[in-house]
Amino acid sequence: MLDAGGAKAKTVSAAGVGDGIGQPRVNEGDEATGTVSVLSGRGVTLQYKTPDHLVVATYRVDFDVHASDRFVVLGPSGCGKSTLLKAVGGYITPTEGEIRLKGELIRRPGPDRIMVFQEFDQLLPWKSVRQNVTFALTESGRASGKAADDRAMHYIEKVKLTKFADSFPHMLSGGMKQRVAIARAMAMEPEILLMDEPFAALDALTRRRMQEELLQLWDDTRFTMMFVTHSIEEAVMLSSRILLLSPHPGRVRAEFNSNGKDEIEPLTGKRLSVAIHDLLFADQPEPEGDDHD
Ligand SMILES: Nc1ncnc2c1ncn2[C@@H]1O[C@H](COP(=O)(O)OP(=O)(O)O)[C@@H](O)[C@H]1O
Ligand SMILES: [Mg+2]
Repeated sequence: MLDAGGAKAKTVSAAGVGDGIGQPRVNEGDEATGTVSVLSGRGVTLQYKTPDHLVVATYRVDFDVHASDRFVVLGPSGCGKSTLLKAVGGYITPTEGEIRLKGELIRRPGPDRIMVFQEFDQLLPWKSVRQNVTFALTESGRASGKAADDRAMHYIEKVKLTKFADSFPHMLSGGMKQRVAIARAMAMEPEILLMDEPFAALDALTRRRMQEELLQLWDDTRFTMMFVTHSIEEAVMLSSRILLLSPHPGRVRAEFNSNGKDEIEPLTGKRLSVAIHDLLFADQPEPEGDDHD
């Protein structure tokens, strides 16, 4: 396994711990490590207005994703993770606060932010693996002709599907379809890759293999990703940083750096996974929340 996150000291941010409300962390870039903030959220409140209800999905959430971060948003089902990712994608506008990509206010979806979802049906069923990837490139104007095909094959090779380039989605397993979705997203070479529980519907062994492959892919290309999960184990393994959200409505509970090894936290004296577990369930008698997925 790669040794990721070595550039950053492992610390627990005090923000939000205890009262569950995140203090604004002004962190436009990290001078110590020379990292640059690609994506920043300030006081992001997201709501759904239905005819009878106002649902507050997230409340005044602050975050900073730096270049090449494996930034994981972790929290129980229903805490607003998907909503937050959709807002970064430009599909939902905050009712309070703002989200900026490289300093620019996010107003709408764009090819600089590509999303990979949990569902296996993200691919166009009538197009082959290769065509699914090239179609995204040509439709968005990212590349065309031979350049699009070369780029598509480059990323298809990265997800180990070269032999299946001319296969159609119905011929592929769930894990392979997710690899295609990842290759397609990466081929777009977005500023940030947005992943909403992309491995949650896979069996445990495939899921583990996909997690390892994603880390290898990251080691190879150092893309910036924002990855949403409700699994503490997955968050610890995949992340360089973890934004922990409280149960519904999602507020920043804490922020951690991680190196994937689930080591003892200097500040808490506990393993990272245990520290997160204790924080998440500290004020909850029932460990199982409603499943909103
Ligand atoms: N389209 C919607 N309309 C109304 N409420 C919604 C909608 N989508 C999600 N919600 C509610 O917003 C909250 C956050 O949902 P979501 O972002 O999907 O959480 P998570 O991804 O963390 O499980 C939940 O209470 C959910 O029921
Ligand atoms: Mg979700």
